[in-house]
Amino acid sequence: MSLTRYTLAIIKPDILEKQSKSIEKILSTIQEKFIIHEKKQLQLTIEQAEQFYSDHRGKFFYERLVCFMSRGPIIPLVLSEKNVNSSSSIKPWRDFIGPTHRDKAREINCLRGQFGTSDTKNAFHGSGSEKEAVDEIKFFFPDFKSDL
Ligand code: PPS
Repeated sequence: MSLTRYTLAIIKPDILEKQSKSIEKILSTIQEKFIIHEKKQLQLTIEQAEQFYSDHRGKFFYERLVCFMSRGPIIPLVLSEKNVNSSSSIKPWRDFIGPTHRDKAREINCLRGQFGTSDTKNAFHGSGSEKEAVDEIKFFFPDFKSDL
């Protein structure tokens, strides 16, 4: 399976801080549609968060985002969609978590609508492109090997 078949997901600090009892339920919900290939828990340093979000440097929310993502533990995951006909898991996962902004997320049935509490505390991350997914998987799981 090509590395581009996978995507990088993150369960963000707001979930681990305030909704940690929901983590097992969240993981089970994810596993209904996705295979979890890798999972770990860690806390990013500010420097690591700056590196991870470097594409957003200069945007109005950049510092807030870096500060939030480094303030507590997170759970990064490597996922692939269970649907064998699917060639990429990026859009399926982004659709599954829903829109970035809380008000939009609440309008539909999605993980961010259920667990997000603000535009910053939006509970989940998903890679935005195949290149981003490859880079982000390497960032958190440098030893992850696909059968590429
Ligand atoms: S953009 O500008 O279209 O690239 O932004 P977007 O893809 O929607 O979001 C990029 C990441 O920034 C986070 N974000 C925010 N954080 C804090 N405050 C505000 N207002 C805000 N808007 C966007 C958003 O959650 C994305 O991070 P990830 O980790 O990918 O969810």
